[in-house]
Amino acid sequence: MPQQEDIRLVDIIAGARPNFMKIAPIIRAIEARRAHGSCLGWRLVHTGQHYDARMSADFFEQLNIPEPHVNLEVGSGTQAEQTAAIMVRYEQLLLKERSQLCLVVGDVTSTMACAIVAQKLCIPVAHVEAGIRSGDWTMPEEINRMVTDAITNYFFTTSEVANQNLRHAGVAEGRIFFVGNTMIDTLLANRPRFRPPEFWNRQQLSAGQYVVMTMHRPANVDSEQSLRAVLQAIAAAVRGLKVVFPVHPRTAKTLAALGAVPSNLLLVDPQPYLEFNYLVQHAKAVITDSGGVTEETTVMGIPCITMRNTTERPETVSIGTNELIGTDPDRLAPTLEALFDGRWKRGGIPPLWDGKTSERIAERLEELLDAAVA
Ligand code: UD1
Repeated sequence: MPQQEDIRLVDIIAGARPNFMKIAPIIRAIEARRAHGSCLGWRLVHTGQHYDARMSADFFEQLNIPEPHVNLEVGSGTQAEQTAAIMVRYEQLLLKERSQLCLVVGDVTSTMACAIVAQKLCIPVAHVEAGIRSGDWTMPEEINRMVTDAITNYFFTTSEVANQNLRHAGVAEGRIFFVGNTMIDTLLANRPRFRPPEFWNRQQLSAGQYVVMTMHRPANVDSEQSLRAVLQAIAAAVRGLKVVFPVHPRTAKTLAALGAVPSNLLLVDPQPYLEFNYLVQHAKAVITDSGGVTEETTVMGIPCITMRNTTERPETVSIGTNELIGTDPDRLAPTLEALFDGRWKRGGIPPLWDGKTSERIAERLEELLDAAVA
């Protein structure tokens, strides 16, 4: 077993809900290597960007993620307030106890903020899910991706399109590692554990007889008018099916101001991982503005309708079951008609989305850190 002074400490940063499913398998893969004498060590830093049990703790529990070593407890705020709070507190942590590498995942505010802090302290940064781009600068996530990748040392990618984006930005080939998708590691590992939510029987849901919807992007949910139009269009186009709608806290604020919603919409709290993916796996279709959900529906072969104009995950459209229809609610009726008429593509699974991505990442991290101290 390696001595304490030989351990190479990797900070694993997690801040918001979509980060948790990405880090869980990476921690497990590092632990597996440690059990075989690896020098890799890890410290889990939760920034506290998401803090509600339903947005955070439920995921730790269901995905068996260990308690974070540190919680920066930054809480809510504007983009700048959150970024600043995370930076100040993460810098304090690193000044007290440095790590040898900072591993960030995805595209949330915590991803960008911690990458900047680490790199300014000359701690190398590894970015999981690097290189994806929507081209839409109105999304905070796109700014987060661009800034993070501008100061990343090691790029772990999910697709050939991401590799190309990085090459075009001048990233040297030797720093790009095409490893696949850690979110899919979590999906495949937990699929046998998916379970119905407590309202399944009470609401008389059955496989293929309902639609799932999620909606939380500012462009879709911050205005009452646009959210109302979307909800009415969906409710009218689903041929009487129920629409199960786990409501994100951001969306809940606008919904509260809307008053009554169409009666076939079933508004529920944000669902834990196992229940949410049970709902998706048995749905007739999913309507969403999320990115991660389009990857999960692709792997589960469930038709997915994305209400955005762009996607940073084009393989979910070119290979998978996803269709981008834009944000105009009028597009919903013809799209759902195609679905009900059985005119939906079958879809395939993108390369390396095979459940082994985190093992490839852990192996590569060990090589990179070994080379750094050699
Ligand atoms: C963030 C991510 C987004 C991700 C989404 C998933 C950024 C820029 N965006 O957006 O990429 O898809 O998470 O959920 O990082 N709130 C709570 N409880 C919580 C967390 C948030 O009530 O646990 C409230 C906040 O006070 C705020 C709103 O929800 O009013 C939005 O939260 P915020 O973290 O700012 O961004 P998200 O929209 O969740």
